[in-house]
This record gives sequence, structure tokens and C-alpha cells, in this order.
Amino acid sequence: MLPALLLTLSLSQTSVPQDQHAPFLGTATCGSSTCHDSPKPWRNATVTMREFWLWQTRDPHARSLETLQSDAARAITNQLGLAEPSHEPACLTCHEGRQIAEKSESGDATAIGCETCHGPGKAFLATHVGTRSTHAGNLAAGMYPTTNAEARATLCASCHVGDATRRLSHIMYAAGHPRLRFEMHSWSGAWPYHAIEDRDYRRRKPIPDRSTMWFAGQLANTESLLTRLADPSAHRGLFPELSLFDCHSCHRSLHAKSSLVRQSLGLPPGSVSLDSASMILIGAALKPADPALASRWHTYERDLNQAMANRGDTTALVAEGQRLITETRTAVSAGKLVANTEPACLLRALLDEAKRQQPLPRPSAEAYTMTLASMLIGPNASLVVDPEHLISVQADVDALYQANDPTESADEALRAAKVDATLQHLASSLPACSS
Ligand code: HEC
Ligand code: HEC
Ligand code: HEC
Ligand code: HEC
Repeated sequence: MLPALLLTLSLSQTSVPQDQHAPFLGTATCGSSTCHDSPKPWRNATVTMREFWLWQTRDPHARSLETLQSDAARAITNQLGLAEPSHEPACLTCHEGRQIAEKSESGDATAIGCETCHGPGKAFLATHVGTRSTHAGNLAAGMYPTTNAEARATLCASCHVGDATRRLSHIMYAAGHPRLRFEMHSWSGAWPYHAIEDRDYRRRKPIPDRSTMWFAGQLANTESLLTRLADPSAHRGLFPELSLFDCHSCHRSLHAKSSLVRQSLGLPPGSVSLDSASMILIGAALKPADPALASRWHTYERDLNQAMANRGDTTALVAEGQRLITETRTAVSAGKLVANTEPACLLRALLDEAKRQQPLPRPSAEAYTMTLASMLIGPNASLVVDPEHLISVQADVDALYQANDPTESADEALRAAKVDATLQHLASSLPACSS
């Protein structure tokens, strides 16, 4: 109990590596052939020492600068009248690897690398190469706690969703930036991971369980939304910053035959709703173990959307959201929620909520798809699904991905109807919740 508490305390003071001040040494320092790019396995090394090779050849982050040199990137900055993307602070904030203060406009940018995630090397280099180095010792010396679910989620979300310093505005989207969508748990699976979680790893480091990771990701997404909502400089002109909303509440066909009104929000047709998918999913997942907290999340999501639609003051609501996040993090780290929820019951709760929320807006449909995929596809699927239903369940997950294909300019109401029907079919092939 005590170590967990200490970690929570120290976390609140740890900012993401990009916002720290200690010097970065550069990816080449970590990835030298005597260190994390060793051609031969190290004797007694507890890690592979091939992390640099893996990063360079497989990790999309290693290409973050090349992306800024592409025609697609230049088209965005040209439209906005900004500098060359690889010199433009508005792009470097997320596509560059170093601290804000070090990102220069001289063009000697560096890709997202080891220190962007693990922290400024200068702080812990000496400590972590010592023969007696321990993970706790490295953390104390300033290594970023990537092993901690909450810290890891905050790190990924800082660029993949945004935060107070890293923001994608609607004008950047309108100029051509791809729409960001992020679900930490499933994306971690899609990312060429360089940590091998074997017995030796377990001896040295804690591994957060899947549900803790999932909650951490959804809570970080929510925190990111609230942070950007509360930041007055994010808003321009008449409207709040449009990138905080569900894009498709505006960007949809005028020829739709059916309505997309979510009754649960209590708003009239034509209302623009926030991208509050993570709140819907958190509420749904909490329901089996803590119905009272679950219902506070659902009420909160509705109140926040109503306040935005009615142009009410959201200051108090943002503070309440932060309290809900803190309470939920405490409940998750106490292990109470996970231990009390059977996978079958969790799935049932998620699908019941999807039904209540119909028609599911696109951000929620995407968040559902990624969440269900990480629960129902892969080696863990057989723990939850009866063998005779495996194929049909996987076909449903495929159908969900197809229905939400971002390149489809299909009618939003039709998309929602397909998603809702697929989720209902999925519910019929999953085991019952026994408690
Ligand atoms: C400093 C900002 C930053 C951080 C921190 C960050 N990412 Fe990324 N990530 C990016 C950018 C930018 C790209 C796009 C790279 C490119 O293609 O140029 C990307 C790409 C990816 C992709 C590939 C996406 C695709 O469409 O193929 C995955 C997966 C990913 N990141 C996962 C993660 C995870 C998991 C974390 C946390 C452990 C994380 N990222 C942390 C900025 C970041
Ligand atoms: C809030 C962080 C953030 C900011 C600010 C940002 N980007 Fe990105 N960008 C990302 C992430 C994350 C991705 C990966 C998208 C994904 O796969 O989800 C990305 C992807 C891209 C891609 C597509 C890469 C591909 O392979 O498809 C281009 C091009 C791009 N960004 C250019 C820019 C430019 C130009 C700017 C400045 C005007 C900029 N970005 C600002 C986070 C950001
Ligand atoms: C996008 C974020 C990200 C980037 C970039 C990144 N790492 Fe990691 N790394 C992680 C995460 C998350 C873990 C898993 C948690 C942990 O063990 O700390 C990890 C784990 C590790 C481990 C621990 C493996 C073990 O068995 O204990 C080493 C060593 C490592 N990374 C080295 C590197 C090096 C070297 C680079 C650069 C070439 C790098 N990382 C780039 C996020 C990143
Ligand atoms: C409140 C309504 C609203 C929301 C929410 C909204 N947009 Fe827009 N968007 C607009 C308007 C209005 C335009 C300008 C249309 C024009 O110039 O004809 C626009 C233009 C665009 C364009 C330029 C292409 C076009 O159709 O003109 C893109 C791309 C875009 N938005 C993407 C997004 C993304 C991505 C999101 C969500 C992150 C989003 N929008 C959220 C109203 C909205």
C-alpha cells in the first residue's frame, strides 16, 4: 500500500519529459553500439539492448520529423501562413522529441526518441548504467515512470489527444491535419513495444493489469479534454475551440434520413456535442463495481454537454470533472474495481450502456470499437468468449472497424445504425454475466 501511495504523491509533481528542464543528451547517446544498440547481447543485461534498432526500424515515432518534411505537412502550414513545418513551433510541440525550451527554429530538430518518453538522460544516465541500478533508483534520479499506468497514459495523451501546451486547433484540422483518435490500451498493442514482460521484468518492475491500463487511458483522455476546455487561450472568436467537439456533429450529410439525437443528453436536435466518449466508457465500465460513481459520470457528461450547448459557465463543472477523475483513479489503484468485475459482466455493462446511448456518436463508436477489440481479439479472447462464438464475435469487431472507417464519407446516421446493430448482435453472442 505504502509504495503505491508514494508513487501517487511523486507523480503529481512529475511533468511529462517534454516539459522538464534537465538537459536531453540525444537519442544517439542512448542508442550507441555499446549501449541500447548493442549488436551482441550483453552478459547479465536485464533488457535486450536492441531498443534503438527497434525504434529506428519499426517505431513510427522515429519518423515524426520526416513527416514534417512531407508535402502533406507543408500543405498544412502553407494554408495557415506558418513557417516550414520542421521550423514551426505549432507543429514541433508534438512532432519533435525535446523540451519546448530546446526546440529551436534553426531546423536542427530531433525525432521523438528515447528521452521524449523516458525523461532527460542527463538526470539518470550515471545512475541507470551502474551495476547496482534498480528501477526505483532510476525513478528517483529522474527517469520518467513509464511503468506507471497513469503516468504512461498522461505521456501518450499529451501528444495523441493534446494538453495545455500541445494542441491541435480546428484551423489545423481544416488545413488538413488528420483527426486524432486515441485509445491508449489498444494503441499500445499496435505500437512495436520494446519491453519484454518476462519473468525477469516482473521481478524488476510492476506491470499494470489490462483494466488499470484501460482506465488510465480513458481518464487521461478526459483530463485532456477538461484541460483544453478550461484554457481561455484555446478559444477563438464567437465559438469555443471546435476541435473539442465531436467533429461529426457538424460535419455530416444534410441528406440523412434519420436523426442522430442522443436522448440521454436531453438536448434538442441540431445541438453540437463534446468529444466526451471517454466519459461514457468510464461510466459504463464502473457500473458493475461502483454504480454510484458510474451514475455520477453519466450525469456529469450530460451536464457538461448541456452547459456547453447553453453557453453556461463551465468553471465549476471542470473542477467537478477533475474531482471525479481523482476519485476514479483512487478507486482504480485500490484494485477494487478490477477485482469486483468479471470480464463477462464488464462486457455486458459496456454493451448495455451503448444501447442506452444510441445512436452512438462517432467518437464513442470508435472508442467502443478499440476497447472491444482489445478485449475480444487476440490471446485473451478465449477467456471471455465461448469457443463456438469466437468467429462471429471477431467478425462483429471487424464490422465495427469497417462501419467507423474514417475515410468513408457515409451518412452519419447510417453509420450509427450499423454500429448499433453490430453491438446488439455482439451482445447476443457473449456469455451472460453471472453476478
Ligand atoms: C511527443 C509526442 C508523442 C508522444 C509522447 C507519444 N506519441 Fe505516439 N505518435 C506521435 C506522433 C507525432 C506520431 C506520428 C508519427 C509519424 O507518422 O510521423 C505518433 C504515432 C504513434 C503510433 C502510430 C499511429 C499510426 O497511425 O500508425 C502509435 C501506435 C503511437 N504513436 C503510440 C503511442 C503510445 C502508446 C505512446 C505512449 C507510450 C505515444 N505514442 C506517445 C507523437 C507522440
Ligand atoms: C497535439 C499534437 C500535434 C500537433 C500540434 C501537430 N501534430 Fe501532426 N500528428 C500528431 C499525431 C499524434 C499524429 C499521428 C496521427 C495518428 O496516427 O493518429 C500526427 C500526424 C501528422 C501527419 C500525418 C502523418 C501520416 O503519416 O499520416 C502530418 C502530415 C502531420 N501530423 C503534420 C503536422 C503539422 C504540419 C503540424 C503543425 C501545423 C502538426 N502536425 C501539429 C500530433 C500533432
Ligand atoms: C513512445 C514512448 C517511448 C519511446 C520513444 C521509447 N520508449 Fe522505451 N519504453 C516505453 C514504455 C512505455 C516502456 C515500458 C515501461 C517500462 O518498462 O518502463 C519502455 C521500456 C523501455 C525499457 C525497459 C525494458 C525492460 O525490460 O525493463 C528500455 C531499456 C527502454 N524502454 C529503452 C528505450 C530506448 C533506448 C529508446 C530509444 C531508442 C526508447 N526506449 C524509446 C516508452 C518509450
Ligand atoms: C461547430 C461545428 C464544427 C465542429 C464541431 C467541427 N467543425 Fe470542422 N468545420 C466547420 C465549419 C463551419 C467549417 C468551414 C466549412 C467551409 O469552409 O465550408 C469547417 C471546416 C473543416 C474542414 C475543412 C474542409 C471543409 O469541409 O471545409 C475540415 C477538414 C474540418 N472542418 C475538420 C474538423 C474536425 C477534424 C473536427 C473535429 C476535431 C471538426 N472539423 C469539428 C464546423 C465544425
